Amino acid sequence: MRLLVCGGAGFIGSGFVRLRVRDHGDEVTVLDKLTYAGRKENLRDVIDKIRFVHGAIEDASAVAEAVTGCEAIVNFAAETHVDRSISGPEAFIMTNMQGTHVLLEAAREHGLRYVQVSTDEVYGSIEEGSFTEQSPLAPSSPYSATKTGADLLVSSYFHTYQLPALICRGSNNYGPYQYPEKLIPLMILNALAGDTLPVYGDGRNVRNWLFVEDFGRGIGHVLEHGVPGEVYNCGGPDECENIDVVRRILSLTGRDESLIEYVTDRPGHDRRYSLSASKLEGLGWRAQVRFDEGLERTVRWYRDNAWWWEPIRSGDYRDYYERHYGRALKA
Ligand code: NAD
Ligand code: TYD
Repeated sequence: MRLLVCGGAGFIGSGFVRLRVRDHGDEVTVLDKLTYAGRKENLRDVIDKIRFVHGAIEDASAVAEAVTGCEAIVNFAAETHVDRSISGPEAFIMTNMQGTHVLLEAAREHGLRYVQVSTDEVYGSIEEGSFTEQSPLAPSSPYSATKTGADLLVSSYFHTYQLPALICRGSNNYGPYQYPEKLIPLMILNALAGDTLPVYGDGRNVRNWLFVEDFGRGIGHVLEHGVPGEVYNCGGPDECENIDVVRRILSLTGRDESLIEYVTDRPGHDRRYSLSASKLEGLGWRAQVRFDEGLERTVRWYRDNAWWWEPIRSGDYRDYYERHYGRALKA
């Protein structure tokens, strides 16, 4: 298939590109703005097999250039960090909503199949049980609200213009190449450096963990086998309290619990996410990596790939960290 992958230089998008080029022989064009979270290094093992266009999804001319010759669009491009959406929502509105609109218009003009990569956070928090595709949308952060807005726009293009559009909503991803502002890579790198591990609130919030390669396969499955107009939830096989995730990371890095530091909670912090993947399983997808195994692989990858994270930990990220956590990062 000839694919336009937007946001393909980010964490999940780059994994998807690797998978499609290696295992499916797809011809891939990546359109990416290369924000702080997007890096060509994430694509280093496939960069000579793809076409790369540097540009923003909200820029119609960049999209027009990138989409030429493609049969389908898969949109990963987004501002993705909840904490950043709390301190500055504007970029989230521009990329996640306006950018999605520009892509939908391009898909409509060229008659392309369209897959929107979305998140379980559009359903909000759930105390018990799991969300299905029928659950009401109840986002609580500017991040999840803009992802929800984008999803509604995607559905409207199916209903109004019969655009063959689909939505795939994933639960919390983890794995290699994830920017260290998110829980798991942040805690791994701090633990390796002997720095403190900042746990929000009481640490009892629950997330439903999905290994990044499983999500990439799920999105590919929706692209190939999904029914236009439908939503598919791609939930991971395991749930875990944050404090338990942190304890496992301490154990895998040979550190003790004295590094745990409870810090001020995130405003509006969702208590629990849980996603039922039954519908996507009915289509033939299964998660292959359990949390124990995936976390061990992830810790090993960060330990062995300092070339990837050292430039991040020594650059602007240090300022972000200091502003957000109110203290400097260890060298
Ligand atoms: P990421 O932050 O690692 O990567 C985002 C990518 O999008 C980067 O390469 C960035 O440069 C690019 N980008 C940002 N703004 C852009 C713009 N205006 N135009 C073009 N490119 C732009 O994010 P991720 O964790 O890989 O998430 C990818 C997608 O998956 C997002 O849509 C996110 O909402 C969704 N998702 C993420 C998770 C998760 O746990 N990380 C879970 C479910 C769904
Ligand atoms: P995060 O990785 O930001 O993903 P999301 O908020 O989109 O689920 O956070 C995962 C969980 O970890 C969430 O409950 C917030 C918590 N958290 C911490 O306790 N400390 C941290 O430094 C970060 C970044 C997150």
